[in-house]
Amino acid sequence: MSTHFKIEGLKAAIEGKEILKGINIEIKGGEIHAIMGPNGTGKSTLASAIMGHPKYEVTSGTALLNGEDVLEMEVDERARAGMFLAMQYPSEIAGVTNSDFLRSAINARREEGSEISLIKFIRQMEGKMKELEMNPEFAHRYLNEGFSGGEKKRNEILQMMMLDPKIVILDEIDSGLDIDALRIVADGVNSMRSEDRGFLIITHYQRLLNYITPDYVHVMMQGRIVKSGGPELAQRLEAEGYDWVKEELGIVDETVGQA
Ligand SMILES: Nc1ncnc2c1ncn2[C@@H]1O[C@H](COP(=O)(O)OP(=O)(O)OP(=O)(O)O)[C@@H](O)[C@H]1O
Ligand SMILES: [Mg+2]
Repeated sequence: MSTHFKIEGLKAAIEGKEILKGINIEIKGGEIHAIMGPNGTGKSTLASAIMGHPKYEVTSGTALLNGEDVLEMEVDERARAGMFLAMQYPSEIAGVTNSDFLRSAINARREEGSEISLIKFIRQMEGKMKELEMNPEFAHRYLNEGFSGGEKKRNEILQMMMLDPKIVILDEIDSGLDIDALRIVADGVNSMRSEDRGFLIITHYQRLLNYITPDYVHVMMQGRIVKSGGPELAQRLEAEGYDWVKEELGIVDETVGQA
């Protein structure tokens, strides 16, 4: 079934302060949407709110994945429904190996009794790690513990590939990647492009979008999508920065700090 994800009127607050002020995005299966925007404009908050981070209180709106509102679901249900987030700052979990974590995550999304076999899991993981040019020892390291910035990002892509999600949100997956790793990660994303998967890619740089061609580019300011366009919008932002957008829209302070 083709995937359809529609965020409508999403508002979210943290500690009583409204950060997201009404977000609307519609992602169809096969599409890649990029979100760009200056620092502190609500991009990561959007990702966290969609995934159900407990700190963010959704005050209104819906996020329908094939007709079902993920905002009404528990966090684990969202993952099971096919939502995936690669975080801007992936957490380290001491004592849990990367492969144990991945296998539990996969099995948590399956019915009891139809867990993935160990052999199949290992074969899959090894294959994906090879694609991502990861050293096999990373399977046995504790999750993200002591991983370099770029190693963490690559590991997030490994998780994405193994979990086969319907909606993939990547929050600054390109930050900290060297030039070769950027290409490897982009190849990983492109290999996952399909009619039943949609992508929301948060990035600051056109660089990533040279490798992953978005269908739509959205600019976020003041907790809202203030402008949308095609890949040419990202190119113009790269060349000219955000001042022209602010001028065009009469925005003085783009952050969510002001009312
Ligand atoms: N847990 C929190 N406590 C207090 N303020 C928060 C919290 N989370 C987010 N904010 C504030 O909300 C605003 C938006 O933050 P967010 O992380 O969504 O920005 P961003 O667009 O992802 O920025 P960047 O490009 O720098 O990653 C910021 O001003 C931030 O300080
Ligand atoms: Mg952010």
